[in-house]
Amino acid sequence: MDTLTSKHGLVSVSPSQPVHQHEVDSLSPDLRQELERLEKEFSVDAKKLKEISKQFEQELQDGLDKYGSNISMNVTWVLGWPDGHETGYFLTVDLGGTNLRVCWIHLTERSGDIKVTQEEYKLPKEVKTGGADQLFDFIAEQLKDFLEKHELRGTKDEPLQLGFTFSYPAHQDYIDHGKLVTWTKGFEIDGVEGEDAAGLLRAAIEKKDLPIHLVALINDTTGAMIASAYNDPDTIVGAIFGTGCNGAYMENVGSIHKLETGLPPETPMAINCEYGAFDNAHQALPRTKYDIKIDEESPKPGEQAFEKMSAGLYLGEIYRHVVLGLHEKGILFAGQDAAKLHEPYSLDTGFLSALENDMSIGMSDTRRSFREHLGFEASPEELIFSQRLAEAIAVRGARLCTCGIAAICRKKGIKSGHVAADGSVANKHPTFKKRWAAAMGEVLDWAEDRKEDPITITSAEDGSGVGAAVIAAMTLKRAKEGNMAGIKQR
Ligand code: BGC
Repeated sequence: MDTLTSKHGLVSVSPSQPVHQHEVDSLSPDLRQELERLEKEFSVDAKKLKEISKQFEQELQDGLDKYGSNISMNVTWVLGWPDGHETGYFLTVDLGGTNLRVCWIHLTERSGDIKVTQEEYKLPKEVKTGGADQLFDFIAEQLKDFLEKHELRGTKDEPLQLGFTFSYPAHQDYIDHGKLVTWTKGFEIDGVEGEDAAGLLRAAIEKKDLPIHLVALINDTTGAMIASAYNDPDTIVGAIFGTGCNGAYMENVGSIHKLETGLPPETPMAINCEYGAFDNAHQALPRTKYDIKIDEESPKPGEQAFEKMSAGLYLGEIYRHVVLGLHEKGILFAGQDAAKLHEPYSLDTGFLSALENDMSIGMSDTRRSFREHLGFEASPEELIFSQRLAEAIAVRGARLCTCGIAAICRKKGIKSGHVAADGSVANKHPTFKKRWAAAMGEVLDWAEDRKEDPITITSAEDGSGVGAAVIAAMTLKRAKEGNMAGIKQR
């Protein structure tokens, strides 16, 4: 057992246990009081979670009933689940916030060995801050580079088939069309909002005369769901807990009241909920003054209310605001230069997660991290406080993340199955899944003495690669069979 010396006493720190499990008696009265206040502010009890989830159900329904609803419930024209026999070679491209990923995928049937060859390209600054032409010309250029490098050849008559993962709210009249409603996750490129992102990419591909046919534009949530379902028939939902947050599930077209398809009402269609926009009217979520500030200072105030309280992009920023407030009050890191702390988005989820799970003796890792990231020398009590605060913010995020999925499950009467989840928070935060599972039990009233959870998170198969490829395969198969609903003849 090691000890940390603080001016208020000794705190024992076992190398195998994080400090936050120990008494916080050693904190100064001011810090202890602040911690109690903050832990209360960031806590969301079971009753509140249930209320939020109920309101969520209502907003999901509104989105199916009419266009212009808060949660947009975007139709995807992915009609049904894969049967596992989709095969072939596909090109996929995924526009992430910082990287572009291009893959060449060989689908060889369910449980077969799926072969993926991939390259990642960093989005240059001038592309991220430029206009639509720069963005789509850049994507087409990287596709060209990829084809050359991997000696992939197509012809005008037999082009390479492409699935385009575009993880932003897009209104799809067809599966190979997607009008961007609004950028999210801090992305801002002029000239794309209100335009068809698939059409812009198609035009850029044509300009370069590449032998590529864009078959489908997909959201990452739909990709995660379909890629997982290709191998796992128990998949019920696709979800992203990452930089942004969102979910997709399968709905009967007859229940999508805003849409007239002419298809039999029981035909399944994947819905990309876009539930990061839940509660943009600010009626249900327990927003703190830090959440309000983040929203006000974001490029899109009033949008993505739910995402801004629960997704990876914002957790570090919430933390930064709290610490900044306490520094300004002279309670935390008093007298130290806070220049770095003033930089928006300077702390990411990785920082929070490492802080929360620091097992090093005397929290030496966190101490170093504070020095490197913020230029602060942290005292033992500041380390303890910081860890508890990181925990409070992450726990709230994980608990809120259950509300959308619980609402989908209740709405569809789903009692068991797998939530195919992807994203940095789900994959890199070691305690996220446990917290999520516990809160899910509270929202859905699972028996406390249950042997196992009926609904569990599984790591999604590669949604933006394999998912896009499977969806492209399903679409081509359907077109061949003459089922052209939501497929434009080009
Ligand atoms: C986007 C969604 C996406 C989610 C996760 C949100 O900001 O609007 O389309 O699925 O992030 O990437």
